[in-house]
Amino acid sequence: MNRYFATFVAGTKEIVTEILRREYKDILFEEVFDNLLVFKTDKAITPFTSLPYLNNVFLVINKFGSPEMQDFTKLTEWCLSKNTFINQFYTYADKYNFHQYKIQFFEDRISVSRQDDLSKLKEAIDLKHSSGFSDFEVWFLKRTEGISFVGIRLTKKPDYQELLPKGELRHELSYILGYLSELKSTDTVLDPFSGHGSIPLTICKHFKVLKVIASDKEIGNIKTAMSNERVKYSNLSIERIDGYSLDSIKVESIDKIVTDPPWGASTEIDNLKIKYEQMLNSFYRVLKRNGILILLTSQGELVDTLLKKVNFKLFHKYQVNVGGRGSYVYKLRK
Ligand SMILES: C[S@@+](CC[C@H](N)C(=O)[O-])C[C@H]1O[C@@H](n2cnc3c(N)ncnc32)[C@H](O)[C@@H]1O
Repeated sequence: MNRYFATFVAGTKEIVTEILRREYKDILFEEVFDNLLVFKTDKAITPFTSLPYLNNVFLVINKFGSPEMQDFTKLTEWCLSKNTFINQFYTYADKYNFHQYKIQFFEDRISVSRQDDLSKLKEAIDLKHSSGFSDFEVWFLKRTEGISFVGIRLTKKPDYQELLPKGELRHELSYILGYLSELKSTDTVLDPFSGHGSIPLTICKHFKVLKVIASDKEIGNIKTAMSNERVKYSNLSIERIDGYSLDSIKVESIDKIVTDPPWGASTEIDNLKIKYEQMLNSFYRVLKRNGILILLTSQGELVDTLLKKVNFKLFHKYQVNVGGRGSYVYKLRK
């Protein structure tokens, strides 16, 4: 079996493992942490495979659990003394006809410079190293969970922290929100606070649904995102509707609402109470019977209070990490 490790949005492990079980029937989970998992499957995960619910996926060359191996010099020594590393390295490069590699050292999400270790590894490997463009990357990764890995990175996700405009959700989280809403090909889906369009565009890209309505009081951002993607989704409609009142949306016309409304600063909380109450009532009005609402917000206490007043049935409340901020995903049904 091939062994992989993958990182994902903290707090979504139940959902991520459920999706993986569906996609990889023979999967065996070796370790599942809050935002990291190690698993085995016979099904090959090839370079650049799209796994839209995971951050990064690596082919494991080796995993180390002992305290003395939580050290880059020791990991380098292991690589230089064992054929396991060199054999897997060349097998992988040959299989995909790769000629240029890069080595990266990471402590959790922080890249660290290890010039001595890098020089020793470069000397032992008879292939071109490039610190710029490369066909593939070998990672030495130390984790706070007390384990370390040497592995080959299979995904080529951008550095979202640098790339995403302020406020745009990571696309992996948008995928997970879409997945939670149990999308069907007959569904009309609404995101009334679509911003840069991470949720509606991810749904259009990865799920088969009838119609996606992306609305915001400011629709310039989603239009820019659309033109950057250079893809036209025939089932996407971009509208400018007040997200709290949803005045122009017909009663019981929407199957799913998947959204990330303004979270509000603590100074605005009174106003936010009124707005959130109006919003939940509007969502209830436009959703069909049994329609699903997936709501992402940091305003857990406020939503918990309001849920006592509106008729939504609470299915699940997940605690997730969004840009270092504790937030909640509510799955509610009308
Ligand atoms: C938390 S952001 C959503 C970010 C979005 N999920 C993304 O990935 O870009 C909230 C959005 O609500 C929009 N907004 C604020 N008040 C609104 C209103 N009354 N009606 C519609 N949209 C509104 C803001 O313009 C902002 O884009």
